[in-house]
Amino acid sequence: MKNVLVTGGAGFIGSNFVRYILEADPQVQIINLDALTYAGSLENLKDLPNADHHTFVQGDICNRDFVRDLLRQHQIDTIIHFAAETHVDRSILGPEPFIQTNVIGTFTLLEAARQYWQVENALPLDQVRFHHVSTDEVYGTLAPDDPAFSETTPYAPNSPYAASKASSDHLVRSYNHTYQLPVTISNCSNNYGPRQFPEKLIPLVILNALTGKHLPVYGDGQQIRDWLFVTDHCEAIHKIVVDGKPGETYNIGGNNQPANLTIIETICDLLDELQPLAEPHRSLIKFVTDRPGHDRRYAMNISKIERDLGWKPRHSLTDGLLATVQWILANPEWVSAIQKQHEYQTWLSKNYEKRENPS
Ligand code: NAD
Ligand code: TYD
Repeated sequence: MKNVLVTGGAGFIGSNFVRYILEADPQVQIINLDALTYAGSLENLKDLPNADHHTFVQGDICNRDFVRDLLRQHQIDTIIHFAAETHVDRSILGPEPFIQTNVIGTFTLLEAARQYWQVENALPLDQVRFHHVSTDEVYGTLAPDDPAFSETTPYAPNSPYAASKASSDHLVRSYNHTYQLPVTISNCSNNYGPRQFPEKLIPLVILNALTGKHLPVYGDGQQIRDWLFVTDHCEAIHKIVVDGKPGETYNIGGNNQPANLTIIETICDLLDELQPLAEPHRSLIKFVTDRPGHDRRYAMNISKIERDLGWKPRHSLTDGLLATVQWILANPEWVSAIQKQHEYQTWLSKNYEKRENPS
């Protein structure tokens, strides 16, 4: 790993990964390609460690000539592909950008890598890697007593987001099988932590609670996700890129599987200690209309990455949630820059007004 193209590195996990890798591996040069959609922000790239090893380039992964030129110009040997449309609720209200970026964008990147590494023979194949960052949502939903998802669980995506990620996973896999492109894939559970865009459950609840707004619980709040602190995910990806076997898929998860309502209540209790209001924060909880097609339960079997690569999550949910709340309280400029975005306010009305007041 010398010249690394990170796609989507101005988003939540991508920017945490850039920060992580600049510290963990000071030799690498990072080229960070991001379109700066509503979810990406240069605020996420302020005060990087070892910043002279990081170059930000604004651009779209769907632009084939642009991506191919970037690979050539920087002699890229490693691609770590985070860029995506990522929010399930947005994929329900408007699926088209998910197909464009997640499917066509991944295909474009694969073609550019194949062209540069294999057709032009720019670098020996044993010195290159295409790592694709994916999600547990490709596996569908579990009943209460089903075993956790493993790497061999059949794909059964339920939302347009999950289906677009599943499609991209299949494309990546096929480029290994057909062209022997050295790829790895990771399927990870729900992340949380610093710099997560506040449309996702945990940062949304923290920010709403801090301003005395309702905390919207979809349906009965008994849906289960497997939560992982974002730097644990970054460490797992780094291990896969360095020590993982080309052609392999690795499941990543946090071994934390509380119901959504429990997560929301835990955040309320933390805020009662750190920023008390006149009434306990739990009084802000409001049950609202459920998400259509809402997956009931996810759980990850992570024995393969534990056994083969010696990775396991470092953070418990308690210390990860505390660190997330503390980070938000310590970074009011980041919060106000993100909240000021017109697009964010529009999203809140679009997603929540009808949910809170169905007629
Ligand atoms: P995010 O929405 O915070 O960031 C996505 C980034 O991609 C943004 O910076 C955006 O500007 C960029 N982007 C979008 N379309 C682009 C395009 N066409 N060209 C270039 N850049 C573009 O997402 P995230 O939560 O950081 O997720 C990163 C990756 O991890 C995604 O592939 C997602 O599917 C996967 N993942 C996320 C989670 C999670 O809980 N957040 C869990 C498992 C896997
Ligand atoms: P989210 O953060 O959108 O991630 P994902 O859909 O990828 O799992 O949602 C996490 C869980 O929280 C999911 O079961 C939906 C639920 N949820 C709410 O109950 N209220 C909300 O306002 C949001 C955004 C999510």
